[in-house]
Amino acid sequence: SLRPGANGMDPKAPNAANYDESNATTYETLPDPLLLLGGERVTTASAWWERRRPEIVELFDREVYGRVPKNVPKVRWEVTGTTRETKGATPVVTKRLLGHVDNSSYPHVKVAIELTLSTPAEAKGPVPVIMELSFGRTFARRMPAEPGPSWQEQVLARGWGYASLVPTSVQADNGGGLTEGIIGIVNRGRPRSLDDWGALRAWAWGASRALDYFETDASVDAKRVGVEGLSRYGKAALVAMAYDSRFAIAHVASSGAGGAKLLRRDFGERVENLASSGEYHWMAGNFLKYAGPLTPNDLPVDAHELVALCAPRPLFVGCGSLEVEGGWVDAKGMLLAAVHAGPVYRLLGKKGLEASDLPPIETPSIAGEVAFRQHAGGHTAGPNWPAFLTFASRYLGPPQKTG
Ligand code: GCU
Repeated sequence: SLRPGANGMDPKAPNAANYDESNATTYETLPDPLLLLGGERVTTASAWWERRRPEIVELFDREVYGRVPKNVPKVRWEVTGTTRETKGATPVVTKRLLGHVDNSSYPHVKVAIELTLSTPAEAKGPVPVIMELSFGRTFARRMPAEPGPSWQEQVLARGWGYASLVPTSVQADNGGGLTEGIIGIVNRGRPRSLDDWGALRAWAWGASRALDYFETDASVDAKRVGVEGLSRYGKAALVAMAYDSRFAIAHVASSGAGGAKLLRRDFGERVENLASSGEYHWMAGNFLKYAGPLTPNDLPVDAHELVALCAPRPLFVGCGSLEVEGGWVDAKGMLLAAVHAGPVYRLLGKKGLEASDLPPIETPSIAGEVAFRQHAGGHTAGPNWPAFLTFASRYLGPPQKTG
């Protein structure tokens, strides 16, 4: 039987979420990202790439997010429409796309991945693109509008393009959907095996298929594509970045448990919540045992190693404030994961996170390849976009000139 998740709604509940920092550290040590399972220390970049990194990938595959099956079908991208529009003051070309998954092995389920891509109409050549894993337009309409230029306008101001992928067109965001979507097609509607992929890994797979398309589109510089997401899609953005080294950069917003937060921390959301009926579909079946009989301290990996899988590429981890967003996402737990990925970044000749503890609110720590910022607002990526784009411009630079 599984232990119940933390209750974030009722502070008087016996399983009330912990927001007391003095009770948050349940562990004495974290798994060492530079120690091979056989006990040998990793001291060279080649030992990281050839021996240690594959071990960590295998553990995340088997115990946390699940494996992408070997026989996952191909995707055929179709441009269903091209329009010229103006975003802010910038003329853009917007393509609507559908990624049709070959379902000949299980025609009962259809998957068409929804993607849009907008690039500056006057671009002289291929441009960097930031792709958002999107809650969709219905959800966006329910959110209060952010003051100032939208993230898309800010991206365009740099001469770059933006894209938006709808993860739920790849895989539904509920357990009932696991026999459908891309997971259902591969399993032909049968239940998952314990190490089969969950929705986070499936969403990240969808992001990689979008990147396949960008590699074929002359308006995109596919070597300079970033991925961004908030909350559950922040988790998915981080998984995409960790697993697919073609992503040049990621903006991981309020990702919390199952994302950038150390799972061993008891602050806000817990492993037990990820294993609960509302969230278990994000994870591999094997993950559930860490909510009973095992504990988070039995996990063979933790979030700092997910961050380390992104090395040496730049990664921006952000969230809102404890007062406005609340503690559910555990800012400090995400900061610590970023800190403890540092040895891997340094081994690969890069700087990890500059800060070693939470910087003051609205103070970006962006000098290293791992960046962190807490904005003063709530559960949104919005106020962190300018700092992310300053950080990103160091790596993505201006659009490429051709000819
Ligand atoms: C819930 C869930 C979080 C998730 C969030 C969201 O709060 O517990 O893990 O990040 O929803 O996606 O908005």
